[in-house]
Amino acid sequence: MNKSLHDSLFMKALRREPVPRTPVWLMRQAGRYLPEYLAIRKKAGSFMQLATNPELACEVTLQPINRFGLDASILFSDILTIPDAMGLGLYFETGEGPKFERPIRSQKEVDDLIIPDPGDELRYVTDAVSLIRKELPENVPLIGFCGSPWTVATYMVEGGSSRNFSIIKAMVFQQPQLMHALLLKLANASVAYLAAQIEAGAQAVMVFDTWGSSLSTSSYKEFSLVYMRHIVAALKADPTTRDTPVLLFTKGGGHWLEMMADTGCDGLGLDWTCDLGQARERVGNRVALQGNLDPGVLYGDTGTVTRECHRVLKSFGNGPGHIFNLGHGIHPGVDPERVTDLVAAVHSFAAIETK
Ligand code: CP3
Repeated sequence: MNKSLHDSLFMKALRREPVPRTPVWLMRQAGRYLPEYLAIRKKAGSFMQLATNPELACEVTLQPINRFGLDASILFSDILTIPDAMGLGLYFETGEGPKFERPIRSQKEVDDLIIPDPGDELRYVTDAVSLIRKELPENVPLIGFCGSPWTVATYMVEGGSSRNFSIIKAMVFQQPQLMHALLLKLANASVAYLAAQIEAGAQAVMVFDTWGSSLSTSSYKEFSLVYMRHIVAALKADPTTRDTPVLLFTKGGGHWLEMMADTGCDGLGLDWTCDLGQARERVGNRVALQGNLDPGVLYGDTGTVTRECHRVLKSFGNGPGHIFNLGHGIHPGVDPERVTDLVAAVHSFAAIETK
């Protein structure tokens, strides 16, 4: 990694080193709230055509960097690329989110799943990573990502988004061995996929566990956390990936932070239901913390956005190890000007309260 990337605010904060101001990036920073994103998606034809075209994926990845001057970039892709590459037939129905033509329900279907080769079926992702790394300003780190095995499995088993997770919960409680077989395959596929993104040029990786909070504490440990730990341990055991920081994000996982920090990861993403100061007391001497403005605040006016950003920064308090972000992705209806306000508020805070 070159020196300007190594010394960037984001990488320093991830290592919990002092920074002149808190770095900021946003989940779903390239997305439908940006008119320039909608224009490229229209040109591509669909979200998947956009995500599988490295040149266009690169272009939309850079849009929020160019518009807002954010401190980190995240690969434009999706957590469902792995099951798509496994042959499940991913498609998006307008207004309904992701769907699979061939959901996974039986032992045979799990046994038949192939672990995709990131250099083959997922080549469009690593090609996008290399291209984005080449096009990004040289001091802006690129974050690669995957979904947590549990979260990806919910889509594969349910066949799409779900409210009650009835089908996968039936699998958890009727056929736990089958559930584990699927999760282990996904964990191994995720390790290979993240390693390939790191090799192609990502400076950090993040695991998105959007649906871990659908589980009880004991089931979370058994069906989600253990597989995120498997991913972290495998990356930390390999000399080619060992030095790349890993962030874990379980939405709604605020009461599990100690266990998450125990995985050996480098940072934790927090949703807006957690208090950053309390989270820091619990795990802040071990991991960096990323978050956690309520994305709904961006529906407020400039003054509200500024005040709420400063509240989040104050709740973390003085000292290193904070990366400013939202508690979840930006909503499609947000006015991009409010994101300009958010970035300005994070920048101005350093002048108010010197770290
Ligand atoms: O954060 C970023 O800017 C990077 C890109 C990114 C996308 N999806 C792009 C995307 C990331 C990191 C994801 C992760 C993802 N995808 C998650 C985990 C994080 C989270 O948000 O909880 C999940 C659960 C998915 C699955 C998924 N992909 C859903 C549920 C949807 C539909 C959302 C909706 O509101 O319609 C997607 C599609 C998707 N992925 C979009 C984007 C920008 C919108 C597609 C469009 O342009 O229509």
